[in-house]
Amino acid sequence: MDRKSQTAVLVTGGAGYIGAHTAKALHERGFLPVVFDNLSSGFREAVRWGPLVHGDLRDRAALGEALSAYDIKAVIHFAGLIEVGRSTVQPDLFWDINVAGTISLLAAMREKGVDRLVFSSSAAVYGQGQRSVQEALAEEADKAPDSPYGATKLAAEWLIAAQCKAYGLTAVALRYFNASGADPSGLIGEAHEPETHLLPLAIAAALGDGKPLTIFGQDFQTPDGTCLRDYIHVSDLAAAHVAALDVDLPAGAFEAINVGTGEGRSVSQVVAAVGKAVGSPVPHSIGDRRAGDPPSLVADPTRARQVLGWTPRCSSLEQIVEDALRWERNPRYGAGRRDPAKRAKADASA
Ligand code: UFG
Repeated sequence: MDRKSQTAVLVTGGAGYIGAHTAKALHERGFLPVVFDNLSSGFREAVRWGPLVHGDLRDRAALGEALSAYDIKAVIHFAGLIEVGRSTVQPDLFWDINVAGTISLLAAMREKGVDRLVFSSSAAVYGQGQRSVQEALAEEADKAPDSPYGATKLAAEWLIAAQCKAYGLTAVALRYFNASGADPSGLIGEAHEPETHLLPLAIAAALGDGKPLTIFGQDFQTPDGTCLRDYIHVSDLAAAHVAALDVDLPAGAFEAINVGTGEGRSVSQVVAAVGKAVGSPVPHSIGDRRAGDPPSLVADPTRARQVLGWTPRCSSLEQIVEDALRWERNPRYGAGRRDPAKRAKADASA
């Protein structure tokens, strides 16, 4: 399709994991994804479906230029820091990029008259609080972030909600549970440097590509003692963003919506599924709990179905592991994260 006739959407952080998958989903729905990214953690090779504007979120002038140059009609805002462990040692940096960066983006959008936003929030806004591990999380659940990372996502949500009321911005905050898997094409996938996430580390260990996995704690009040998480395929997550952009909402509306499956999987279950898919067990040991890890985070996804008409399509654990494994066997970029020095850095910040 002619680029000029497409509706352009600015995707901040579009060179990152979820951003790149969402850019692909936007392209498939006829939008032009314009990626705005400083490439501090994203990959140029992940930007395949539209132009890349190299810039920093805190540079309001650069944002303004990108919004005008492409006649942007809406923004999907992913750019930010994501490592929970690192946020406990560098909280000021997380507030600067995740909150001050969002202030800068909102100001640029207001200046250019762009009034539609989808924001990348997180299940980390909830924390464990007083909740029992069996309880699925509805959006109204108490917010007690266990990490500065979660606190910055909640603060950014509050800020966006206030801007909606004050200036007529329309926004949807999607609270992701555990994004995982990779696009079935094998062209894009998960690549964090350093890598701290369970699935890529378990696969690397099983392939003999990394060191043995450490399971962070086996003494939680959960059925098998390891943490429960709600693993959602990144392609399903990408589809939720397109739905959030399309949904008919009045001016000034703000919606916060969980994006998960409603199914909790334990770390041990994930490790077993990886062993089965690879055909050899995941070498692992049991270690201490990791700071900032709540025992259980499982979504109640009712609202996503009601408001967005969205349900997961490819988030069975088997499908997630199969797609992640295809990518890890042949990553198109980011193979450097297997570098032992980077792995040591990951361990230090975990
Ligand atoms: N885990 C291990 N060993 C590892 C890595 C992870 O046992 O080497 C465990 C963790 O303790 C946790 C589970 O695997 O129980 C999943 O951990 P990840 O690091 O893969 O993901 P998190 O649940 O910590 O983080 C995800 C997102 C964050 C988000 C958070 C909400 O990546 O952005 O969910 O808590 F904030």
